[in-house]
Amino acid sequence: AIERTFSMIKPDATARNLTGAITKMFEDAGLRVVASKRVWMSRRQAEGFYAVHKERPFFDELCEFMSSGPTVVQVLEGENAIAKNREIMGATNPADAAEGTIRKLYANSIGENSVHGSDAPETAAEEIRYWFSDVELVG
Ligand code: CMP
Repeated sequence: AIERTFSMIKPDATARNLTGAITKMFEDAGLRVVASKRVWMSRRQAEGFYAVHKERPFFDELCEFMSSGPTVVQVLEGENAIAKNREIMGATNPADAAEGTIRKLYANSIGENSVHGSDAPETAAEEIRYWFSDVELVG
Protein backbone atom coordinates (compact mmCIF):
# COMPACT_ATOMS: atom_id res chain seq x y z
CA ALA A 1 0.00 0.00 0.00
CA ILE A 2 1.03 3.61 -0.48
CA GLU A 3 2.17 4.93 2.91
CA ARG A 4 3.69 8.05 4.39
CA THR A 5 6.54 7.99 6.87
CA PHE A 6 8.40 10.60 8.87
CA SER A 7 12.13 10.96 8.18
CA MET A 8 14.71 13.22 9.81
CA ILE A 9 18.26 14.04 8.73
CA LYS A 10 20.15 14.55 12.00
CA PRO A 11 22.67 17.28 12.97
CA ASP A 12 25.75 15.12 12.30
CA ALA A 13 24.62 14.74 8.68
CA THR A 14 23.52 18.34 8.01
CA ALA A 15 26.91 19.45 9.44
CA ARG A 16 28.64 17.38 6.76
CA ASN A 17 26.41 18.75 3.98
CA LEU A 18 24.77 15.37 3.39
CA THR A 19 21.15 16.54 3.01
CA GLY A 20 21.17 16.09 -0.76
CA ALA A 21 23.04 12.78 -0.76
CA ILE A 22 20.69 11.25 1.82
CA THR A 23 17.54 12.58 0.15
CA LYS A 24 18.73 11.19 -3.17
CA MET A 25 19.04 7.72 -1.66
CA PHE A 26 15.37 7.83 -0.65
CA GLU A 27 14.30 9.24 -4.02
CA ASP A 28 16.33 6.66 -5.93
CA ALA A 29 14.47 3.94 -4.01
CA GLY A 30 11.14 5.32 -5.20
CA LEU A 31 10.15 7.41 -2.20
CA ARG A 32 8.79 10.90 -2.84
CA VAL A 33 9.46 13.92 -0.62
CA VAL A 34 5.97 15.37 0.03
CA ALA A 35 7.09 17.73 2.83
CA SER A 36 10.51 19.04 3.87
CA LYS A 37 11.92 21.77 6.09
CA ARG A 38 15.10 22.62 7.95
CA VAL A 39 14.59 22.89 11.71
CA TRP A 40 17.03 23.71 14.53
CA MET A 41 14.92 22.21 17.27
CA SER A 42 14.96 23.39 20.87
CA ARG A 43 15.83 21.09 23.74
CA ARG A 44 12.12 21.03 24.66
CA GLN A 45 11.09 20.09 21.13
CA ALA A 46 13.63 17.25 21.15
CA GLU A 47 12.34 16.01 24.52
CA GLY A 48 8.78 16.07 23.22
CA PHE A 49 9.62 14.29 20.01
CA TYR A 50 11.57 11.54 21.80
CA ALA A 51 9.23 11.32 24.83
CA VAL A 52 8.86 7.52 24.42
CA HIS A 53 12.56 7.23 25.30
CA LYS A 54 12.48 9.45 28.41
CA GLU A 55 13.35 6.63 30.84
CA ARG A 56 16.28 5.43 28.74
CA PRO A 57 19.84 6.08 29.94
CA PHE A 58 20.71 7.81 26.67
CA PHE A 59 17.73 10.25 26.72
CA ASP A 60 19.71 13.33 27.85
CA GLU A 61 22.51 12.69 25.39
CA LEU A 62 19.97 12.11 22.60
CA CYS A 63 18.08 15.37 23.25
CA GLU A 64 21.32 17.32 23.65
CA PHE A 65 22.57 16.04 20.30
CA MET A 66 19.29 16.54 18.44
CA SER A 67 19.17 20.20 19.52
CA SER A 68 22.88 20.82 18.80
CA GLY A 69 22.41 21.87 15.17
CA PRO A 70 20.03 21.90 12.23
CA THR A 71 18.00 18.89 11.15
CA VAL A 72 15.88 18.37 8.05
CA VAL A 73 12.44 16.92 8.77
CA GLN A 74 10.66 15.27 5.86
CA VAL A 75 7.61 13.23 4.97
CA LEU A 76 8.31 10.46 2.47
CA GLU A 77 5.54 8.80 0.48
CA GLY A 78 5.52 5.59 -1.52
CA GLU A 79 4.80 1.89 -1.67
CA ASN A 80 5.61 0.41 1.78
CA ALA A 81 7.29 3.70 2.70
CA ILE A 82 7.81 2.80 6.37
CA ALA A 83 9.68 -0.45 5.78
CA LYS A 84 11.47 0.89 2.70
CA ASN A 85 12.76 3.93 4.60
CA ARG A 86 14.06 1.67 7.39
CA GLU A 87 15.78 -0.61 4.91
CA ILE A 88 17.56 2.32 3.27
CA MET A 89 18.62 3.73 6.68
CA GLY A 90 20.10 0.44 7.93
CA ALA A 91 20.39 -0.68 11.56
CA THR A 92 20.33 1.95 14.35
CA ASN A 93 23.91 1.09 15.30
CA PRO A 94 26.18 1.69 12.28
CA ALA A 95 28.31 -1.27 13.42
CA ASP A 96 25.32 -3.51 12.58
CA ALA A 97 24.20 -1.68 9.43
CA ALA A 98 24.26 -3.46 6.06
CA GLU A 99 26.55 -2.36 3.23
CA GLY A 100 25.12 0.43 1.13
CA THR A 101 22.76 1.75 3.80
CA ILE A 102 22.80 5.38 4.95
CA ARG A 103 24.02 4.52 8.43
CA LYS A 104 26.77 2.23 7.14
CA LEU A 105 27.91 4.96 4.78
CA TYR A 106 27.57 8.00 6.99
CA ALA A 107 26.76 7.38 10.68
CA ASN A 108 29.43 8.25 13.27
CA SER A 109 27.97 6.21 16.16
CA ILE A 110 24.70 4.84 17.54
CA GLY A 111 23.85 8.33 18.79
CA GLU A 112 25.13 10.35 15.83
CA ASN A 113 23.51 8.03 13.32
CA SER A 114 22.61 10.54 10.60
CA VAL A 115 18.91 9.71 10.17
CA HIS A 116 15.72 8.83 12.01
CA GLY A 117 12.66 7.13 10.52
CA SER A 118 9.30 6.04 11.94
CA ASP A 119 9.01 2.41 12.97
CA ALA A 120 5.26 1.79 12.45
CA PRO A 121 2.12 3.40 10.94
CA GLU A 122 0.97 4.81 14.31
CA THR A 123 4.32 6.42 15.10
CA ALA A 124 4.58 7.73 11.52
CA ALA A 125 1.24 9.52 11.92
CA GLU A 126 2.26 10.95 15.32
CA GLU A 127 5.70 12.07 14.18
CA ILE A 128 4.34 13.69 11.00
CA ARG A 129 1.77 15.57 13.10
CA TYR A 130 4.50 16.68 15.54
CA TRP A 131 6.41 18.59 12.83
CA PHE A 132 3.94 19.34 10.05
CA SER A 133 0.48 20.82 9.60
CA ASP A 134 -1.82 19.44 6.91
CA VAL A 135 -1.18 22.34 4.53
CA GLU A 136 2.56 21.53 4.54
CA LEU A 137 1.95 18.04 3.12
CA VAL A 138 1.98 18.41 -0.63
CA GLY A 139 1.58 15.05 -2.34
P1 CMP B 1 16.39 7.11 16.41
O1 CMP B 1 15.83 6.28 15.32
O2 CMP B 1 16.44 8.56 16.19
O3 CMP B 1 15.55 6.82 17.74
C1 CMP B 1 16.11 6.96 19.03
C2 CMP B 1 17.58 7.25 18.99
O4 CMP B 1 18.26 7.06 20.18
C3 CMP B 1 18.24 6.30 18.02
O5 CMP B 1 17.87 6.62 16.71
C4 CMP B 1 19.70 6.49 18.36
O6 CMP B 1 20.31 7.52 17.63
C5 CMP B 1 19.61 6.90 19.82
N1 CMP B 1 20.21 5.85 20.64
C6 CMP B 1 19.80 4.59 20.76
N2 CMP B 1 20.61 3.91 21.59
C7 CMP B 1 21.54 4.79 22.01
C8 CMP B 1 22.64 4.69 22.87
N3 CMP B 1 22.96 3.54 23.47
N4 CMP B 1 23.38 5.79 23.06
C9 CMP B 1 23.05 6.96 22.45
N5 CMP B 1 22.00 7.10 21.62
C10 CMP B 1 21.28 6.03 21.40
